[in-house]
Parts: sequence; structure tokens; C-alpha cells
Amino acid sequence: MKKKLLFPLALLATAGVLLSGCNAPEKVVAVKPVKIAAGEMDPGEWGKAYPIHYDLWKQTEEPTEPGKSKYKRGFDADGITYDKLSEFPFMALLFNGWGFGVEYNEPRGHAYMLKDQVDIDPSRVGAGGVCLTCKTPYAPQLEKEKGFDYYSKPWAEVRAMIPEKHQDLGVACIDCHDSDGMSLKLSREFTLGKALEAIKVDRAKITHQDLRTLVCAQCHVTYNIKKDENKKSVGVYFPWQGSSWGDISVENIIKQIRNDKSVGEWTQKVTGYKMPFMRHPEFEFFSRNSVHWMAGVACADCHMPYTRVGANKVSDHRVTSPLKNDLKACQQCHTETPEWLRNQVFAIQDRTASLMIRAGYATATTAKLIEKVHTLQAEGKEIDQKLYEQAKDFYMEAFFRSLYIGAENSVGFHNPTEAMRILGDSTAFAMKAEGLLRQALTKAGEDVPMTVNLELDKYLNERGKKKLNQQKGMEFKDPFGVQDKLVDVQLISN
Ligand code: HEC
Ligand code: HEC
Ligand code: HEC
Ligand code: HEC
Repeated sequence: MKKKLLFPLALLATAGVLLSGCNAPEKVVAVKPVKIAAGEMDPGEWGKAYPIHYDLWKQTEEPTEPGKSKYKRGFDADGITYDKLSEFPFMALLFNGWGFGVEYNEPRGHAYMLKDQVDIDPSRVGAGGVCLTCKTPYAPQLEKEKGFDYYSKPWAEVRAMIPEKHQDLGVACIDCHDSDGMSLKLSREFTLGKALEAIKVDRAKITHQDLRTLVCAQCHVTYNIKKDENKKSVGVYFPWQGSSWGDISVENIIKQIRNDKSVGEWTQKVTGYKMPFMRHPEFEFFSRNSVHWMAGVACADCHMPYTRVGANKVSDHRVTSPLKNDLKACQQCHTETPEWLRNQVFAIQDRTASLMIRAGYATATTAKLIEKVHTLQAEGKEIDQKLYEQAKDFYMEAFFRSLYIGAENSVGFHNPTEAMRILGDSTAFAMKAEGLLRQALTKAGEDVPMTVNLELDKYLNERGKKKLNQQKGMEFKDPFGVQDKLVDVQLISN
């Protein structure tokens, strides 16, 4: 840091409104004593009392200026849908076998969360109504009233249970606020509520600043879908068991989901393994000892900074990347220039992407060797089971670590050193597994070539009707070129 921050966060709770950040407190829009009907879902109704907030919230449907963000180009006004499979082709290989291997787009504004489910390849909502859990403000009510049917019925059928005018409505005021007094309130007891219980959080001790993170943690977390014997979805939960507040580690999550046989949600085609999955673990990753978490910074500090609208200063409800907002959020606490801050973000992300690419291709190489072993076994060849089982275990550990960072949406920024650690471990596990598999294959009389053909084009093309979406030249090159040196060994695609 060049300059010391004007810190610590002076958290002034005035009239139920919190002023975080470091500037001298200014007038924040007053919380009007307007009565909003209990349970009111319609943001338009809330907007009658809070028109400024409503307008900002609506702006999440607008595209951003291209070129501001390097890795999270989800909805730039350039009209391209950026997708992770084109950016990181190893993911097309690893996720082949279900929806994520067909279409896996970068996120965009909150206004699109439900619409994007309508537009995406239908395989992505195959799990049923459960997929609406983080997409509609009606989810808590539907879960309560319909129970098993909510989770298991086809997605379109459950969506049709939402009043027609709200079938495209994404996160709404009621998801984060109490209509009575506008304080922050968690709406998803059936997911986050239970997860907080699992990590033994005393709800009475949750602070206002915690809530400025927890309202986001209702959705920006990894979750698993429980299945019954008939592969029907019967529930959804956050795999936090065995963890604690501020210490939900990737190791504990992996342990939990590998041990829970009811969350084998898909079968990875290349290995034939039935697997659980991980999604967007923003909260878990950020809250594990990151510099900003330890300094008491909340998600809302960076993604909903105070902004001036006319004579009012309000929390910016156009929730988006701080880069797309010219790093105004950071400047509440940091005195450096936006350029300096942007370069810091890019430097962290480039380093993360570089290692992520390394871990991803090392894992993909291992997956192809496992495929080779399975082919030989099918031909009746004997394979050393001890070597194979050990390799399989290491492969899983490598896969989930690489998946975790790939799914986390900040490309390392939320917790840079943790990202390095996890990706380093992923690479180490993958290399170990590769060594063991080579040994097993050699023992079985196979001559394993130096170069393992990943057949990436095959996987990139197995993307159903959406394959036209695959954008040539969209891939991120390893920013430091190390992968290019390794390319002959790992990256051959024909
Ligand atoms: C009800 C679930 C839900 C809640 C609550 C929620 N989000 Fe999101 N968020 C999503 C989904 C889903 C997407 C991806 C939408 C898409 O791509 O269609 C998203 C996207 C985003 C994006 C990307 C926006 C862009 O312009 O590309 C950011 C940033 C974000 N959320 C931050 C937050 C923060 C910060 C909070 C808490 C203040 C929060 N979210 C609360 C579900 C939620
Ligand atoms: C210290 C500031 C800071 C904090 C705190 C923070 N973020 Fe972020 N977040 C960022 C930056 C910087 C990025 C990278 C944006 C980019 O590359 O465009 C980012 C990226 C994201 C994205 C992807 C944005 C996009 O446009 O696709 C999401 C979603 C997100 N953060 C959610 C959260 C959530 C949820 C929390 C709290 C658990 C959180 N962030 C805490 C700074 C922060
Ligand atoms: C994703 C969660 C989320 C959603 C959705 C959301 N808000 Fe907020 N809102 C917040 C957060 C976080 C704050 C800051 C609260 C604090 O620190 O006291 C806030 C603050 C407010 C405030 C207090 C003044 C201010 O600007 O800080 C008002 C009024 C408000 N929101 C209105 C609305 C309205 C109206 C909607 C729907 C159109 C809405 N909010 C949707 C998270 C949300
Ligand atoms: C609410 C206050 C706050 C906000 C907002 C904030 N930061 Fe920070 N940031 C801190 C504090 C406190 C530290 C720790 C500084 C220290 O210990 O010297 C820090 C540290 C950092 C560091 C050094 C981290 C490291 O690992 O060494 C970087 C880089 C950084 N911030 C970038 C950003 C960027 C970029 C944004 C906006 C996206 C941002 N910060 C938003 C308070 C904030």
C-alpha cells in the first residue's frame, strides 16, 4: 500500500442506515417511514417509496462499456456472450457429460438471472425446480408450499407456478430487505439459514456489516443438489459441514461432497466418474482470511458503493464489477488512482489465470490417462489397482480445486494468496496422479507417449446446438507464456 488507509471502518449506524467506508459521513437517503405491504414481491411497489433505488436496481439490465474488465466481460455492449468454455477450453473437456460442458457463460447483471435460465441450453436446468432457488424471490415461498415438488418437478413447470408478470423477475428488494423498516434481512432460511446453523453461527451475533455480506451469500456460494435413488432432486444445501465462520476451506468442502453419496449430480464423460459439482463460491473464498475480509470489508462495500444521485447519496443498487464502475468503490478507502488499482486487480487476475490454466490442463491430461486406463481394462488388460485407486483419489482432489477457482467469479481477486495456494495444490495433485497413471500403464505393457492428446476440439464441438457460440480467439492465453512452453506435452488438439 502506498498510503495508509483512513481506517478502520467507522461503522456508524444512524437511523438504521450504515455508513461504511472512510469518507466523512454525508447525507444518505433517509429511510422513509413508508409502509410496504409485508411479503410484497413487486420491486415496482417498493420503487414507489424508493424511486432512486428502484432506478439503479433496474440498471442492472443495461450493458457496460466494453474493455473495462479483463476477465469478467459478461455483458459488454459489444454483443458477444463470453463463455468460460471458449475462454478456458480445458473446461470443455472436464465438464463434458452435462450442461456445464455445453454452455457455461460469464455472469451478467442481476436483471438477467432468470431470463438467462430461459435462454440457456435446457440441459443446464435439468435438475428441476431446484434451479430456481437463487433466481426468483418466490423460491422461499414455493419451497415451503410445494416441498418435494418444488425441487423435483421440471424447471418449466415450477417456473409456471410463479405469477406470470414475475416469471422473468430476478433478485428483488424482498430478497435483501425487510419491508418493514428497510433493514437488511435474509430471505433464504432453507439454504443459507441452515448453512449458518451447520457452522454454528449465533444468529443474534450477526452484525450489520456481516449482513452487507450475507445478503449476497444467499446466492454467491457453492451448493449441492441432493438426489434420490431415481435421480430426482430432493433438496439443496451448502456443503459447509465441519467448517466455521471465516474458515470454510476448499478442503472441507471437498471432504463433505466426496463423502456425501447423495450429491453425485453428473457423470464426467471422459473418466466415467459420477461426481458432485461446485459453483460460484464467492462467499467461502472471500471470507477465508482474505485481506479485505480481515479488514472488515463487506461485499456491498465493493459492489454497492455509495453513489451520488442528484442531492442524495445512496448505496449503488446497480450491482456490478468495480472495474466497470471505474473503481469508485475502492476509492472510498484507497487513496491510489483508479489506474493503480486497476493494474493491481489485473496483476492479481493474470497470476491467477496463469496458474488456473496450468492446473486445468494438468487435470485434463490426467483425465485422458484415466480414460486410457479404462479403455485397456475394457480390452481385458490387467491394471495395478493400487496405483489406479491412488491416482483416482489424487485426480479428484486436483479436479475439485481447479473447479473451485474456475467457478469463483473474481479470478483470484477476492483472496489472491488463497487462490495461489489452491491452484498450486491442484497442480501438484494432478502431476502426482499423472505419474501414477503412467506407471500403471507402463506396468500393463502400454507405451505412453510423452504427448497426451487432449482432443480439445472434439469437446468444444460437443456443445449441442449452442456450439456456434464457441468464439474463436476468445481463449485467454497464459499471461506469462509458461503454458506455451508446455504445449507440446499437454495441449495438443487436432
Ligand atoms: C437471489 C440470488 C442473488 C443474490 C441475493 C445476489 N446475487 Fe449477485 N448474482 C446472482 C446471479 C444468479 C448472477 C448471474 C446473473 C446472470 O448472469 O444471469 C449474479 C451476478 C452478480 C454480479 C455480476 C454482475 C455483472 O454486471 O456482470 C455481481 C457483481 C454480483 N452478482 C454481486 C452480488 C452482490 C455484491 C450481492 C449482495 C449485495 C449479490 N450479488 C446478491 C444471484 C444473486
Ligand atoms: C475489496 C473489494 C471486493 C470485495 C469485498 C468483494 N468483491 Fe467481488 N469483485 C471485486 C473485484 C475487483 C472483482 C473483479 C471484477 C472484474 O474482473 O471485472 C470482483 C468480482 C466479483 C464478481 C464477478 C463480477 C462480474 O462482473 O462477473 C462477483 C459475482 C462478485 N465479485 C461477488 C462478490 C461477493 C458475493 C462478495 C462478498 C462475498 C464480494 N464480491 C466481495 C471486488 C470485491
Ligand atoms: C442484493 C441485495 C439487495 C437488493 C436486491 C436490494 N437492496 Fe437495497 N440495499 C442493499 C444493501 C446491502 C444496502 C446497504 C444497507 C446498509 O448498509 O444499511 C441497501 C440499502 C438500501 C436502502 C437504504 C439507503 C441506502 O442507499 O443505503 C434503501 C432505501 C434500499 N436499499 C432500497 C431498495 C429497493 C427499493 C430495492 C428494490 C428495488 C432494493 N433496495 C434491493 C441490498 C439490496
Ligand atoms: C471498505 C474499505 C476498502 C474498500 C472498499 C477496498 N479496500 Fe482494498 N484494502 C482495504 C484494507 C483495509 C486493506 C489492507 C490494507 C493494509 O493492511 O495496509 C486493503 C488492501 C488492498 C490491497 C492489498 C492487498 C494485498 O493482498 O496485499 C489491494 C491490492 C486492494 N486493497 C485493492 C482494492 C481494490 C481494487 C478495491 C476495489 C475493488 C478495494 N481494495 C476496495 C480496504 C478497502
